[in-house]
Amino acid sequence: MNKLVNLTIDGRKLQGEEGQTVLEVARDNGIDIPTLCYHEEIEPYGACRLCLVEVTKNNRSRLVTSCLYPIEEGLVVKTATERVISNRKMLMELLLARCQGVKVIEDMARKLGVDKPSFKPEYWEKNECILCGLCTRACAEVVGTSAISLVNRGVNREVAAPFLETAEDCIGCGSCVYICPTKCIKMEENGDTRTIVNWKATFKMQKCQKCGKNFAPVKQLEYFRKKLNLPEGFFDVCPDCR
Ligand code: SF4
Ligand code: SF4
Ligand code: FES
Repeated sequence: MNKLVNLTIDGRKLQGEEGQTVLEVARDNGIDIPTLCYHEEIEPYGACRLCLVEVTKNNRSRLVTSCLYPIEEGLVVKTATERVISNRKMLMELLLARCQGVKVIEDMARKLGVDKPSFKPEYWEKNECILCGLCTRACAEVVGTSAISLVNRGVNREVAAPFLETAEDCIGCGSCVYICPTKCIKMEENGDTRTIVNWKATFKMQKCQKCGKNFAPVKQLEYFRKKLNLPEGFFDVCPDCR
């Protein structure tokens, strides 16, 4: 176990392990901080900034993103000061303006007391992607393929395959589809094919030799068979029939 660190969050005296972030210690202790780009299995990235909190050190207060901020001895954290709430609301308004009709954003906005954006940035087109980078990080860190990435800058920033073409390294696993908070990555299955629509990639599915179900893309199964050094034919039957 790492060294224990004492800190205060919202007036509660708490302990966390050295190396933990403020968000992790808050969540371990049932303190709710809103997040959109955080997942416990993936390295934090600090994209959405909704997890803002106010920290005080040496009598100086400032706003930090709690998913990236490591705890320190004696740190005082407040998760819902006026400054935190007004900044969070402003971020939520920007997200609402960009993602009209996206349920997860609308629900979170309502929870934070924002009904509708009070402004609409002219240069922002409606877009269901909030550029949280969860899909690219899951693809790189969990799957290990790095088939997609965040490209371009400013208003043209988007998630895409290299050269905006078909994602050649995509194995069709669907991890990006499942992790996307706004559900804007589309996957279609038709007979024995699966298509990840956003990445223009289509895969033949493996048919289970026992029950006949098409259960996963052949490319995905081959990728994991080789990675895990499994014998040929290991994935001829689906997990249910094994
Ligand atoms: S479906 Fe393709 S892009 Fe998405 S996580 Fe899997 S390999 Fe990466
Ligand atoms: S596609 Fe989804 S997961 Fe990927 S950056 Fe956009 S909102 Fe996040
Ligand atoms: S959860 Fe911390 S910046 Fe998104």
